[in-house]
Amino acid sequence: MGMKYHSSKSNASNKFLSLKSSTILTTTLFIASLVYFFAPSRNSQEPHFLDHHGGGLFHDDLRDAKFPWNKLSFGPISNEKLKLAVFSKTWPIGADPGGMERHAFTLYTALATKGHEIHVFTVPSDRKFHDNIHDGSLHVYFAPNDHGSLNCSLAFDIFDQENRARPFDYVHTESVTLPHWRAKFVPNVAVTWHGIWYEIMHSKLFQELLDNPNGQGSMNELQEAMPRLVDEIKFFSSYSHHICISNSAGEVLVNIYQLPQRNVHVILNGIDESNFVYDPIAGTAFREKIGIPSNVTLVLGVAGRLVRDKGHPLLHEAFSFIAKHHPGVFLLVAGSGPWGKRYAELGQNVKVLGALEPSELSKFYNSLDVFVNPTLRPQGLDLTLIEAMHCGKPVLTPNYPSITRTVVLNEDFGYTFSPNVGSFVKALEAAIRDGPEILQRKGMICKSYAVTMFTATKMALAYERFFLCMKNNRYCQYPLPTDF
Ligand SMILES: *[C@@H]1O[C@H](CO)[C@@H](O)[C@H](O)[C@H]1NC(C)=O
Ligand SMILES: *[C@@H]1O[C@H](CO)[C@@H](O)[C@H](O)[C@H]1NC(C)=O
Repeated sequence: MGMKYHSSKSNASNKFLSLKSSTILTTTLFIASLVYFFAPSRNSQEPHFLDHHGGGLFHDDLRDAKFPWNKLSFGPISNEKLKLAVFSKTWPIGADPGGMERHAFTLYTALATKGHEIHVFTVPSDRKFHDNIHDGSLHVYFAPNDHGSLNCSLAFDIFDQENRARPFDYVHTESVTLPHWRAKFVPNVAVTWHGIWYEIMHSKLFQELLDNPNGQGSMNELQEAMPRLVDEIKFFSSYSHHICISNSAGEVLVNIYQLPQRNVHVILNGIDESNFVYDPIAGTAFREKIGIPSNVTLVLGVAGRLVRDKGHPLLHEAFSFIAKHHPGVFLLVAGSGPWGKRYAELGQNVKVLGALEPSELSKFYNSLDVFVNPTLRPQGLDLTLIEAMHCGKPVLTPNYPSITRTVVLNEDFGYTFSPNVGSFVKALEAAIRDGPEILQRKGMICKSYAVTMFTATKMALAYERFFLCMKNNRYCQYPLPTDF
């Protein structure tokens, strides 16, 4: 149609054609990658993935594990102390840190407590001046530039001095904090990826489809994602070992980024499990405190920053429909952001609570029947999902591979949907149909799974064993006599 239209202006038509073919190429690549991405894995790893509750079958070199190390039960190794360097974009000071900062903080506080000597090169998250921290065997060096973000050269200089005094056993960087052109010259470096461009590309794709259902948008963001992905694939090999926070990201690094399987490992994020516990009494009290009517049939909850790319336009539209057709269903919104006001306008079935203190957050989760996470970002592991599961709640989330392969393994754990309003409404209706009793049962399955996989303790043990294995491959064997 378009070609006919332009046929009298050959110049314009050529341009149009080349534009068109690049679009077709991009689309084809996307479809091809989606087919790969969403196709179930059919390789020999499957038995391990199906062994959700223990990795009990595994007797081998840990570097060959094709499932999260969290699954294994590592015993204590007390006679070997490590000296580790860590590059992290920021170090949490004060409240409300993002996921990546929390990861570094939780992990390295735990490893220092175990007696390992930890040196972190970073900046304070509040971008103000703070003295370096020397707390037992945890050392945190702040190396900001004028704007308060990390001065990489300065951080590297301090690292270098400390390394000369006594060499580090291993170096760890949270994403590209230690950039690849420097990592190339650091032989013993591992990187943890909290999101890769392959996943970001999918996120942009979903956003494009939602924003421009008729395909009239500029697709700029989508077009810009592809060169970033290509660039990333080229520089990832500058890092020697790669740690992913979901099974699906690990597979992409091997199958698309073509990194050697032996250099790619999966260690899932964990949260401090003592902060998020199943407590139905606290849940009931929380409902009363915030004034949820006693005649509601079901309480849904969502938590986090109320911004567009966390999927709030999607939930807003889906819940408007639900509120009309199921007047007994209530939505609790914990968090702040531009979408808070719009939720408040949805009427008496919605309550916006604002940002909650961590101690209140656990009570909030406990007051729900099901936790909803509408995110448009198929990357990483959303910590809110894990927190809700620890509190014994089933989850309702998009069906991204990072979630379905690692968190919501099947319908026993909750409900999944494609990131569009129709599919979202169907999933919500399925949860409403099931009702509080079935939801409660699913919640207990979530809780027992979360306790075996997503705890700070498990994460710290897995990372400790990883660094030990990198230092001395005797520790790469599993199980050791000290393991359970
Ligand atoms: C970063 O640190 C180096 C010295 O380590 C210094 O020469 C440079 O000016 C700093 N850059 C900025 C932007 O602060
Ligand atoms: C619950 O009770 C309130 C007031 O008592 C009433 O307005 C509302 O319609 C009731 N909701 C349902 C779902 O029955």
